[in-house]
Amino acid sequence: MPDPSPNWRHALIDALPKAELHLHIEGSLEPEMLFALARRNGVAIPFASVEAVRAAYSFTNLQDFLDIYYQGMGVLLTRQDFFDLTLAYLTRAKADNVRHVEIFFDPQGHTERGVAFGTAADGILDALAEGEARLGITSGLILCFLRHLDEESALATLNEAGPWLGRIAGVGLDSSELGHPPAKFARVFAAARGLGLKLVAHAGEEGPPPYVTEALDVLGVDRIDHGNRALEDPALVARIVSEAITLTVCPLSNLKLCVIPGLALSPVKRMLDLGIRATINSDDPAYFGGYVGANYRAVADALELSADEIVTLARNSFAGSFLSEEARARHIAEIEAIAAAFA
Ligand code: ADE
Ligand code: ZN
Repeated sequence: MPDPSPNWRHALIDALPKAELHLHIEGSLEPEMLFALARRNGVAIPFASVEAVRAAYSFTNLQDFLDIYYQGMGVLLTRQDFFDLTLAYLTRAKADNVRHVEIFFDPQGHTERGVAFGTAADGILDALAEGEARLGITSGLILCFLRHLDEESALATLNEAGPWLGRIAGVGLDSSELGHPPAKFARVFAAARGLGLKLVAHAGEEGPPPYVTEALDVLGVDRIDHGNRALEDPALVARIVSEAITLTVCPLSNLKLCVIPGLALSPVKRMLDLGIRATINSDDPAYFGGYVGANYRAVADALELSADEIVTLARNSFAGSFLSEEARARHIAEIEAIAAAFA
């Protein structure tokens, strides 16, 4: 039955071009594809049905989720698997009017299982090229280091990435945050900076405000992934505002990982009120119940965001991207035209 009360926020969200800046490609592995790849590759999985997989996606914290996320990626073995995974994500993004994506992958999650760096990277890069040609979605690929592993492993991964670096936009830092402060990776981030790569890091998802400060000061990141807990430190907030640092917030992820007790407590509106360049992203949409459009809709409804605030979030997604100045301006001009027509 058609929705009897069309939601103006949803209509505006649908109409706005968007960029997604925080998406783990392995976190877009839907249970149906998990099953299909397990069968295709002869990999045993401890679930009897797609429904049983979905039922297992109940988490009380980040580590709970990570345990099942690393188990899930065990079905990804071939270049074709990574291609199929990435193209499926891009097709979903296209349906949400996403024009540009900067996606993460976790090479150490694959190499430690005997899957070569290039198998993952080439499959993802092939699909990103196809996504641009067929769907008109531009992209950047960000190589994330797993912070629960040591820096030697991260340095070896950066070294292994050598032949692909011309097609890799930057490096990031993800996985278990507590007990693994950004400074643990100071040398590998300095090396990546020396190679001309962009730098991002997860910080302040579960970790305290000093982790955000460390990511900025010790790693020199261009962007903070999550950053929720930065709001606990007024001086840090003032700096994030004055330096126009982008935070890639993930509302449904925050809810599912119990970073927030309810969407009405999402920090997105507070961040906008403070003048922070906040963006909306899906993180691991197959595990957290929604792609980027669903994240915008959920947070816009729960926080009763104004049209201006929704437009600001879309504008921020391009302003905070690693696109050229010219491309950013072009996307933002389109957003302004849609905002003017909507008003
Ligand atoms: N890896 C995948 N999703 C993640 C998240 N939300 N935080 C840290 N590491 C991750
Ligand atoms: Zn993440």
